[in-house]
Amino acid sequence: MTAIIPAAGLGTRFLPLTRAVPKEMLPIGGKPAIQLIVDEALAAGCDDVAVIISPAKEIVRSYFSADPAYAGVIRWVCQTEQRGLGHAVLQCAETCAGRGDRVLILLGDAVIGGCQAASEMAALSRANGGASVIGAERVPPERVSRYGMLKIEGGRVVDLVEKPSPEEAPSDMAVAGRYLLDAAIFGYLRTQEPGKGGEIQLTDAIRRMIADPAHPLLPYVYPGKRHDIGDPQGYFETLCAFYGGR
Ligand code: G1P
Repeated sequence: MTAIIPAAGLGTRFLPLTRAVPKEMLPIGGKPAIQLIVDEALAAGCDDVAVIISPAKEIVRSYFSADPAYAGVIRWVCQTEQRGLGHAVLQCAETCAGRGDRVLILLGDAVIGGCQAASEMAALSRANGGASVIGAERVPPERVSRYGMLKIEGGRVVDLVEKPSPEEAPSDMAVAGRYLLDAAIFGYLRTQEPGKGGEIQLTDAIRRMIADPAHPLLPYVYPGKRHDIGDPQGYFETLCAFYGGR
């Protein structure tokens, strides 16, 4: 299975630090956060990890190049335009072709504490005939407009809305940084029109994919917590959880 780690974002929520240091290189226990995410993908059974970086993030590539343990495992995909998460994932479509029926997407600024999220999502998929699985967590109303929000019925995701207002949100369950998707997602992304913010949204392509009953999507609600290292407060909380064992 191939993993895709989008890590080309501008880091605007963590300025001015991110003028020089990509947020994915922030240390957690002596390792950059992105190494924990690559290791999570490998532990889930991925044998190929495509990391999407921008030209400003060459330091991420240099870091892994110095470690022979990752030689031949990581591929680097360079993204020069910022046109949304769906567009970033689509940059990997050609190199993922023929590498399996499913693709694991792990956002480079999301660290999931308290569980091996990707491994548990892969196990849930296997137990359900290879169904797609999306990582989810409950969020309070004031944070709803920052996330893709899920509608869940009968144990399946039946709808997704990208960054709705609290009134428009179909539930309090948010999309949270991990996706194990049928490789058919690339076909939907190729024809995906821009959505929220004028960006090509992964959420919108998943919504179209699950309209076909051949592509069921199950929620995996983390028993632990998703940490967002993309801003100083989230990074601080990540470190507290890591060192406090929470
Ligand atoms: C992206 C997705 C959104 C998801 C979020 C956290 O948003 O578009 O659906 O809830 O990641 O996983 P971003 O944080 O890139 O704006």
